[in-house]
Amino acid sequence: MDHFVYRGGALHAEDVALATIAEHVGTPFYCYAAATLRRHYRVFRDALAGVDSQVFYALKANSNLAVVALLAAEGAGADVVSEGEIRRALAAGVPPERIVFSGVGKSESEIAFALDSRIHQFNVESEPELIVLSRLAAARQVTADIAIRINPDVDAATHAKITTGKRENKFGIAWPYAREVYRRAAALPAIAVRGIAVHIGSQLTDLGPFEAAFRIVADAVRMLRQDGHRIDRLDFGGGLGVPYGEEAPPSPAAYGAAVKRIAGQLGCRLMFEPGRLLVANAGILVTRVIYVKKSDDRTFVIVDAAMNDLIRPTLYEAKHTVVTVRERPAGAESSRVDVVGPVCETGDYLALDHPLPTVHAGELLAIRTAGAYGAVMASSYNSRPIVPEVLVSAGRYSVVRSRPSYRDMLSGESIPDWARSEASR
Ligand code: LLP
Repeated sequence: MDHFVYRGGALHAEDVALATIAEHVGTPFYCYAAATLRRHYRVFRDALAGVDSQVFYALKANSNLAVVALLAAEGAGADVVSEGEIRRALAAGVPPERIVFSGVGKSESEIAFALDSRIHQFNVESEPELIVLSRLAAARQVTADIAIRINPDVDAATHAKITTGKRENKFGIAWPYAREVYRRAAALPAIAVRGIAVHIGSQLTDLGPFEAAFRIVADAVRMLRQDGHRIDRLDFGGGLGVPYGEEAPPSPAAYGAAVKRIAGQLGCRLMFEPGRLLVANAGILVTRVIYVKKSDDRTFVIVDAAMNDLIRPTLYEAKHTVVTVRERPAGAESSRVDVVGPVCETGDYLALDHPLPTVHAGELLAIRTAGAYGAVMASSYNSRPIVPEVLVSAGRYSVVRSRPSYRDMLSGESIPDWARSEASR
């Protein structure tokens, strides 16, 4: 359930009409519903009731400071993958002891920054990383709590570009080879081995792969304890899918029940890094129709949002539902259209062959389930200003990231004297 609903014939975000926001902010813009963010967080947290657990929101899904602050106020920690994300998490009020640092390529300066910030845990993905972490922690006379991310070689059965738990993927250290890396980790100075991390992919719509991976982790706990390691934290990553259209992913309750069944009795604190699940359905992308172009067999609805604002349809063949902001009567006729943007690429589409009622230039459309991996993946390709973001709560709204002016966009660039033409010098 989300909080984007028709009222009096017009799509609202909670109690605010989207047309009102469009008038003040212009289009395109992302709009997030605070009530949905809170609701999703609580549903996930409640699914884990009864076990010692902590949610570390995966900032990569939507790292807007207001969104992170809202989830932090609910009690969420942060799963981060860069110094930039650590800085965002801290700026949004996430306490350092609720930050976990993931990622295959943490640089020395990022590790140093994380150590100086006193974060909770490093999820280590390679031996060389472990050695750098040990050296930097020892130099600071601190101990780094670590989990090793194991690669369980489980197929998440999701899009190839967001599958992470297969042997051929760059992520984690293959299990059981990782057992040897644990041995070496325990011998390194300034490293405290605490746990096991796993994350097999994103947008999983079936519990099976999760269960397979979690069972491998549970077996690994026993083996690693036999080897003498203190294993008291398990990080199960993120990955739970959301319905974009017809999919029926497992409910958080079913996911939580599986986790408890497999790992509830291991005496470990259970950690989770959901991203998409918390934010995807809490966000929409609002856009205005510029032109409707008809040919003999196709209709292109050309809108002012484009692949640079929401890249998921073209990058992952993701199917986002598009709706009109002005409600149509039930049973109104619809036809199949391509909703495309102004960017000069054939891959610039938001939806292909999508049913839509007859729409007109100037009217607003909303692209649903766009709160995760939407704004964060936006670019200014084609010199289009980065899309703004708006957060709604009940009857009020705030622009939580403004649209840059064209002057802002050019301000970081300069033309060296030697690059100018003779004539203009
Ligand atoms: N933890 C780790 C280590 C991750 O790599 C990810 C996502 C998450 C947690 C959060 O996963 P989630 O709960 O959101 O599935 N841009 C792609 C998704 C990339 C996911 C990358 N890693 C998309 O738009 O589908």
